[in-house]
Amino acid sequence: MFAVPENTVVLSLKPALPNPTAIVRSIAADRDRWAHLLRYDPDTRWSGLIERTDAYEVWLLSWLPGQRTNLHDHGGSEGAFTVVAGALTERVVRIGRGVDVLHSLKAGQTRVFGPRYVHQVSNETTDPAVSIHVFGPSRAEMTPYRLDPIEGAVVAEAAGPFG
Ligand SMILES: [Fe+2]
Repeated sequence: MFAVPENTVVLSLKPALPNPTAIVRSIAADRDRWAHLLRYDPDTRWSGLIERTDAYEVWLLSWLPGQRTNLHDHGGSEGAFTVVAGALTERVVRIGRGVDVLHSLKAGQTRVFGPRYVHQVSNETTDPAVSIHVFGPSRAEMTPYRLDPIEGAVVAEAAGPFG
């Protein structure tokens, strides 16, 4: 054993996520890397893993008309997503507040999110949509939310489809 000096700074072991926008845009532009993985599921939004590293995961998602996630966050993960085909709608909700913002995203547009960012993504159009998402460090830790008319986004007990 050895003594730890009193002024020792504890550093996080979590690897820093490289620029998430650069990651999703780079992979989106390289269609040979993911086009063969793409599937559509008439019953639920489809997702497939493109790449996993120690620092992040990259997922390919497809959205048929009307398919959506529930309201959710990504736990302590941060990341970004970009639309590569079609169009998606992102609803952003602030925890404990009624602030509610809609973003209409067309192919080529990207959104970035930090830890505890609460949103819902949907395909409100009549055409299929495809998107690529990066989560650092992973997609695994998600929390479902429900929208309370007074308190805004509050943690929900039931899980559902995320993305
Ligand atoms: Fe999400």
